[in-house]
Amino acid sequence: MKILVTTPSGKVGQELVKVLKERGVAVRLGAHSVEKTRQAFPGLDVVPLDYGVPATLEAAVQGVAAVYLAAPGDFPSAPEKALVDAAKRAGVKKVVKLAAMGIEGSDNPMRQVEEHIRASRLAFTFLHPTWFMQNFTTSHAGAIKAGTLAEPAADKKTAFIDARDIAAVAAEVLTRPGHEGKTYTLTGPDLLSRAEVVEILGKELGRKVAYLPVTDEQFRAAVKAHLPESYVELLSALYAGVRAGWTETKTDDVQKVLGRPPISFARFAKDHRATWA
Ligand SMILES: NC(=O)c1ccc[n+]([C@@H]2O[C@H](COP(=O)([O-])OP(=O)(O)OC[C@H]3O[C@@H](n4cnc5c(N)ncnc54)[C@H](OP(=O)(O)O)[C@@H]3O)[C@@H](O)[C@H]2O)c1
Repeated sequence: MKILVTTPSGKVGQELVKVLKERGVAVRLGAHSVEKTRQAFPGLDVVPLDYGVPATLEAAVQGVAAVYLAAPGDFPSAPEKALVDAAKRAGVKKVVKLAAMGIEGSDNPMRQVEEHIRASRLAFTFLHPTWFMQNFTTSHAGAIKAGTLAEPAADKKTAFIDARDIAAVAAEVLTRPGHEGKTYTLTGPDLLSRAEVVEILGKELGRKVAYLPVTDEQFRAAVKAHLPESYVELLSALYAGVRAGWTETKTDDVQKVLGRPPISFARFAKDHRATWA
């Protein structure tokens, strides 16, 4: 029986596909961009999965034993709830849901999806990671290359986590028993301010990278031409949480699940050096 991986081009999804493939686990990739995903993972079972097209959800879960469930950050809950219902009808046994640190007690759509999974009585594990290191190789890559990282994060710290660790945890809980009903809060090993982040990047690259703390207003003005309004609102709220100190926490859940420490930011910087070179 197969494992369905949603968002297989996502920061975590693509790493999860690699881990499951290496372990010889049968996977089905439920892709939003089908051709892009086929090119990235030749020879694997790639099917269309578009949260805006209900029939694709129903088809993607047929013959599947477990689902890794994720969606873009600014998504409503209804499409993922529909996928959970389709999974239940198709006889899926387990759902592993990627959400985010700090959603407990909120009415965030990710929390609504989790409540729906609980009510479905499917076996589940919830993953609550903090901010990903991979944001620095994707949305912030151009700024780092140009020499200045501007974020409305003040001098607050975050224990950034490598998406490879989240994927490794997801693979573990998808393929081995003992994690049902649990929520893992996933962080990296070190609490770092953005100033410390650029210092590590600068050391790795052999040139100065600056951190420019900006206000919420300056941030909104800089990104509004490039991002949908809902995403700007989401990011603005997330950065407000950083400035309030909500990310200044770290856990040992990666160590507990994997039996090894999480990847450090220095290791991440070394592994992705070419992105900013
Ligand atoms: N980034 C972080 O620091 C962070 C931290 C904590 C939690 N999270 C959570 O992690 C999740 C992933 O966020 P991310 O920002 O890292 O994004 P991502 O997973 O890197 O990218 C979004 C994924 O969603 C897919 N997608 C877009 N529209 C879709 C649709 N209509 N139907 C199906 N799939 C669709 C994209 O596929 P295509 O590429 O094919 O369009 C892509 O694979 C979110 O729930 C977010 O809240 C992120």
